[in-house]
Amino acid sequence: MNDAPIGIFDSGMGGLTVMRALAARLPDERFLYLGDTARLPYGTKSAETVRRYALQAAQALTARGVKLLVVACNTASVSLPALQEALAPLPVIGVIEPGAQAALKAAPNGPIAVIATEGTVKGGAYVRSIQAHRQTPVVQQACPLFVPMAEEGLIDGPIADAVAHRYLDPLMATMPRPRALVLGCTHFPVLKNVVARAVGDDVTLVDSAATTAVAVAQLLEERGLARRTKSTEPQCFLATDSPDRFARVGEIFLGKAIDPGSVELVDLQ
Ligand code: DGL
Repeated sequence: MNDAPIGIFDSGMGGLTVMRALAARLPDERFLYLGDTARLPYGTKSAETVRRYALQAAQALTARGVKLLVVACNTASVSLPALQEALAPLPVIGVIEPGAQAALKAAPNGPIAVIATEGTVKGGAYVRSIQAHRQTPVVQQACPLFVPMAEEGLIDGPIADAVAHRYLDPLMATMPRPRALVLGCTHFPVLKNVVARAVGDDVTLVDSAATTAVAVAQLLEERGLARRTKSTEPQCFLATDSPDRFARVGEIFLGKAIDPGSVELVDLQ
């Protein structure tokens, strides 16, 4: 089991930011990434639909023998309890709780702001997770335009700055001023510089990709599931549509080139 891959699931390519953080933290591990590109975005869909899609994606990964499942998609975290129940005893971990804990640490005394998709904001998962640990004000803002901007590589320059100000100025003007800002969507870490410029340097940005990698490393150790030897197998990916686009756009999020031949087309239905 230790040599089995870690399954990572996202609605599309954005979860590659989580895989990038995981690969940096756990260089010996092997990963099997599934992007449900045919049904992206999840952020504008109902919780019921997202739960159904997430279960199908998780089953596709478990059928290939993963040893742990990372639900990289913030929006799909609404399905975490259902996945944990359906896949037990397989460990299933999401990005919300690690992100919430990191935000609490980054803002020990102050309010916290969260930016995410419409679905995540509506579901209030970050608010619940943060306030389960400490009763602190949490303000949220959906930033739907950030998703296509990231996919287009529009991650710097005047247009990106203007959109960031439009979303973030009202959020950061709330009183008392938030001290930490959670990047609560897989796509947002690639817009980190733009977001940082818009909010100013008195606000700590919390990247849930990096904090999830720490939580996964801990879980592997606790369960005795960490690899003992470095994987030498080539990386492969699964996508439900357009492997070529997955490879091309995925590069933005993974931070390195993806061979289109390494992306297998799968059908989840
Ligand atoms: N992966 C989604 C998330 O982290 C963003 C893209 C989408 O809307 O599907 O919430």
